[in-house]
Amino acid sequence: MSGTMLTRESLVEQYKQTHPGSQKLHDRAVKVFSANGATHGARILEPFRPYITHAKGSRKWDVDGNEYIDYGMGHGSLILGHSHPAIVQAVQEQMAKGVHYSENHELEVEWVELIKKLMPMVERTEFCACGQEANIMAIRLARIFTGRKKVLRFEENFHGWADEVVSKGAAGVVAPEVTIIPMNELNKVEEELAKKEYAIIMTEGGGAHMAGQIPWDTEFIHALSGLTKKYGTLWLIDEVVTGFRDAPGGWQSLVGVTPDMTTLGKCVSGGLAVGAVVGRADIFEAFNPKTPVERRIRHTGTWNANPLLCSAGVTACKLYLDGEPQKRAYELGVYLRDQGNKVLKKLNISGRLYGRSIVHLYLGPIDYEPSDPNLPPTKDVKKIINPAMVTLRSQLCLHLLQRGIATLGARFFVLSAAHTKEDIDQTIVAFGSALDGIVAEGILERT
Ligand SMILES: Cc1ncc(COP(=O)(O)O)c(C=O)c1O
Repeated sequence: MSGTMLTRESLVEQYKQTHPGSQKLHDRAVKVFSANGATHGARILEPFRPYITHAKGSRKWDVDGNEYIDYGMGHGSLILGHSHPAIVQAVQEQMAKGVHYSENHELEVEWVELIKKLMPMVERTEFCACGQEANIMAIRLARIFTGRKKVLRFEENFHGWADEVVSKGAAGVVAPEVTIIPMNELNKVEEELAKKEYAIIMTEGGGAHMAGQIPWDTEFIHALSGLTKKYGTLWLIDEVVTGFRDAPGGWQSLVGVTPDMTTLGKCVSGGLAVGAVVGRADIFEAFNPKTPVERRIRHTGTWNANPLLCSAGVTACKLYLDGEPQKRAYELGVYLRDQGNKVLKKLNISGRLYGRSIVHLYLGPIDYEPSDPNLPPTKDVKKIINPAMVTLRSQLCLHLLQRGIATLGARFFVLSAAHTKEDIDQTIVAFGSALDGIVAEGILERT
């Protein structure tokens, strides 16, 4: 794939020429999937994303033989990289032993004991099929425990697509008990909590979007524990992305806070579909069959803790225990961040790469120089989530794909322990050339 200068139209033309097999599959897909042929909102791209045949480590390959360094990493779930040999072996062996027994089994106990070892706040766990389901379960638990109905959430915080966790006012959503307030405004939180109507307050681990595209202020997060206790609301940290990615103990161990409940997903299973609510034992009494029926949850779910999933989960969690995969992904993230920022500076493009093992790309004015490179150079949410940038980012994403770099919408780079320094060096060259490309097309200006 070439990295020469292109006009916008010629880039699309060249992309189509180098992706004829993907084009054919896309043509079939649009007849059956209404989201321009895609099966996930983040995979919608004009003209289309590549169709992948296989992946290994940090790389994936499409039907036309194009190779990509992958920065989607299973929507953040693959901190060990694609097809980690230990996970592949565990799943293959379990497949032969049985996928689903409709019974209890040892692996589910082993897995939960490992999760408990990793995250000290875990007294009880309830497994389900995905992260969003875990969040919905956490809301139900909180309502039963507190006897209240309302849910307090924060702007931009992502918890899934179901009614009570998606953006307020989204099409078709009915969630009258949900209040959404701006992030990092402690007075506003106290004003709401003081009404003593809220069962739960939900915060995304690290900050809004993939571990902190919009980070939390440290003082704000530290104040939440005291405030929620004072007003009788349960505090949930949604660590679906950050759990066991940021550290063996999750993001909460980095900042030193302990919520009442945590939700997990993605990395906790090493890459198979999973969700889990973990937290205080007294809250989980709702699952006890001896609890009076009006305070009880009879939790069903065909895929809860199935043996195939548990085989991957046990293997992954054992690998997380010493913190090595997290450390490696973090160090690679720092390297990508630092090298990428040199490129932005050299090309006179106003922007910043920031973050930990998920590196976010900000393109916009530099309002201040943060002392911490994990933070964006502005506190203005409207600049970080700027709808005017969507077209630019799609185009940048296409430029990167054409140069063998796969991102989801050029918003962030998800690292894994399987990436290498050489991957990053190659990425940085492509990043510079892709930025030059969109500058040449007149959709991004130099300072
Ligand atoms: C913070 C957060 N919570 C919840 C979810 C939903 O998880 P799932 O897609 O497994 O339902 C996601 C998905 O990306 C997420 O990023």
